Amino acid sequence: MKWNLSIIAIGIAMTLWIVPQACGQTFTPMATDARIEKKIDSLLRLMTLEEKIGQMNQYNGSWDVTGPAPQSGGDAIKYQQIRKGEVGAMLNVLGVKNTREIQQLAVNNSRLGIPLLFGYDVIHGYQTMMPIPLGETASWDMQVLEKSARVAAVEATAAGVNWTFAPMMDVSRDARWGRVMEGAGEDPYLGAQAAVARVRGFQGPDLSLANTLAACAKHFAAYGFGEAAREYNTVEITENTLQNVVLPPFKAAAEAGVATFMNAFNEIGGVPATASTYLQRDLLKGAWGFQGFVVSDWGSIRELITHGVAADKREASRLAALGGSDMDMESSAYTTTLAQLVRDGNVPMAYVDDAARRILRVKFLLGLFDDPYRYCDEAREKQYVGAPEHVAIAREVGRKSIVLLKNEGQLLPLAKNAGSIAVIGALAADKDVPLGSWRGQAVTGSAVSLLEGIQAAVAPGVKVVYEPGYKLTTGLRSFVQDLTFAQDDGSGFKAAIKAAKNAEIVVMAIGEDCWQSGEARSQVDITLKGRQEELLREILKVNKRVVVVLMNGRPLAIPGVAEVSPAILEAWHLGSQAGNSIADVLFGDYNPAGKLPISFPRATGQAPIYYNRKSTGRPVNSENNVFWSHYTDAPNTPLYPFGYGLSYTNFQYSELKLSASEIYPSETLQVQVTLTNTGSRAGEEVAQLYVRDLVGSVTRPVKELKGFQKVLLRPGESRQLTFSLTTKDLAFFTGNREWAAEPGDFEVFVGGNSEETLKGAFKLN
Ligand code: NOJ
Repeated sequence: MKWNLSIIAIGIAMTLWIVPQACGQTFTPMATDARIEKKIDSLLRLMTLEEKIGQMNQYNGSWDVTGPAPQSGGDAIKYQQIRKGEVGAMLNVLGVKNTREIQQLAVNNSRLGIPLLFGYDVIHGYQTMMPIPLGETASWDMQVLEKSARVAAVEATAAGVNWTFAPMMDVSRDARWGRVMEGAGEDPYLGAQAAVARVRGFQGPDLSLANTLAACAKHFAAYGFGEAAREYNTVEITENTLQNVVLPPFKAAAEAGVATFMNAFNEIGGVPATASTYLQRDLLKGAWGFQGFVVSDWGSIRELITHGVAADKREASRLAALGGSDMDMESSAYTTTLAQLVRDGNVPMAYVDDAARRILRVKFLLGLFDDPYRYCDEAREKQYVGAPEHVAIAREVGRKSIVLLKNEGQLLPLAKNAGSIAVIGALAADKDVPLGSWRGQAVTGSAVSLLEGIQAAVAPGVKVVYEPGYKLTTGLRSFVQDLTFAQDDGSGFKAAIKAAKNAEIVVMAIGEDCWQSGEARSQVDITLKGRQEELLREILKVNKRVVVVLMNGRPLAIPGVAEVSPAILEAWHLGSQAGNSIADVLFGDYNPAGKLPISFPRATGQAPIYYNRKSTGRPVNSENNVFWSHYTDAPNTPLYPFGYGLSYTNFQYSELKLSASEIYPSETLQVQVTLTNTGSRAGEEVAQLYVRDLVGSVTRPVKELKGFQKVLLRPGESRQLTFSLTTKDLAFFTGNREWAAEPGDFEVFVGGNSEETLKGAFKLN
């Protein structure tokens, strides 16, 4: 790999463990290094077929490694297999003590002593939780995303983990899908930027540093397009959408040097992604030149049988190996059938060699052959897991992820010396929900609640009264079982209404339990559960000064809430410092600048809903009849569009200027706009650039994001912003099935969200 050497030197010498040492540096794609390839050649020559296949096998660490080694059952077999060099990676083995013990099994006992990879889902933090990835993306601040991933990497690597199954970069247009919380929203351009920032944060400038880990671009591909947004469901997607919408973040991650990919559970066009030669061999390893390895998703090789493309494990193994799945996560398919498949000539030996080479390459790059215990340092574990210096970063990332959706009469920000504040809603005092789904090793109930954040922020003597009001969930709230929603008898309403009536201001938290979103948490209805809205309406009858704080893992269909509430903050599941971050915004210590990375629908039935839609043949009602693309019971428009978010100040866009009215393919068009802070507070604005290709060989979206800039302006300050557009930005997967920019007329839009924009036009010759 080619890295910027001077920066590495400074990084290593001065800030080896300081966050974020990698931010803003230049990165290059993962390239092969001749010295490493030679070492791999020698190693492969020594390896038996079984040992090579061993590298392709990943097991879950299900046994308690602090106890005696398992003597019987499946665990004992895994234990023996590690000793025999038949395991290449583990997942869910955590902590220095455990990872060291398992690593010793491999290094000290197996014939060639090849070290193991230790993978884990470090999605938005290891112990210190950052906002859920969808929330973080609302910052539209790539430095922030990188910094957040950096913290996660520092903590995870200190706990023995050297591979994270993140970032998830599945574009999704349907908030019924529970995993929208884990991605970057609906847009391929923003998704690509976010993917790259996160890969940089995890992998740092050099994979061999002990505080960087291998990242994983997942789920390849189109997992976010399951029919009706039901988890693991069949995907029906056209090549046009696959190429133009789904793949760009993956390609960007590959170009940024991501070390691994994970394939997906779903099928596309009758072929499960795990067996897809098109995706894995032709595209990823072929056209894109990816040099890392592809891991299957959990059990997805075995699931080729349930999909109905393989009759048994042997056949599943054959299809996955031919398809280009290099590592088998928890199917025990390769380890039991692949050697014979190779001996029988059903899978080429070259495929096994290539898979083993790719896996060994990542191990070399991580420095595991220099020191297999590089990630096993108790002192680092003690110092960095949940380190106090990460708290401030979590608070910063948290407040930058908040989106101000409504602020009628400038109710916000609140005065810290308000006479009294009623904090209403079970979610407001909850110290666990803000940790979100996919929470790594976060300590249960360790988040700063909204109530605590408010209590810490107000001036001495201000009365803060809390009433839960509604009931949301009941019984077991966990990863292993579906949530039970409470039967709310309304018994909490009276006290909540009374508290609201007696207070000067009301802050009411509503939204979702954290286990309503995440893997396997699809919903058919994305309105508010229980009686939350009913209580809100009751409270508004006695006190109009109500600030709604939304806590949720997905866009919610809340037209009623949006209509009746004077002020609304979108606070997602915001992580360990949630309450403090929200208080920073509520009381104006931070002026919110987040913008939605995904559209909020008015009704669940609008899903999938997304700004970069196609025109259709009948987009508007031009003839005053019903025969146009619409619903009879709701508008087409979202409740809040992609890119939307307010500030405590106001911004004005003016003087949109283009450097030319026509450009030639080699030329760059400059798009200039003047942005003015017309309010009385300093604030940040995310200026967004969109383009429309008016006539294409295939239909083109009505708008596509092509650039954004986040700028801080003082009150009254104006700044001229310049965006550049090249033919690369205008290229798409055309009717000729190639990426190209087609000559013709374009519209260009600049504004503070995807709907309210200034408009210009130019021509590509
Ligand atoms: C299944 C999920 O789809 C994937 O994202 C995750 O990394 C694996 N399980 C391992 O936990």
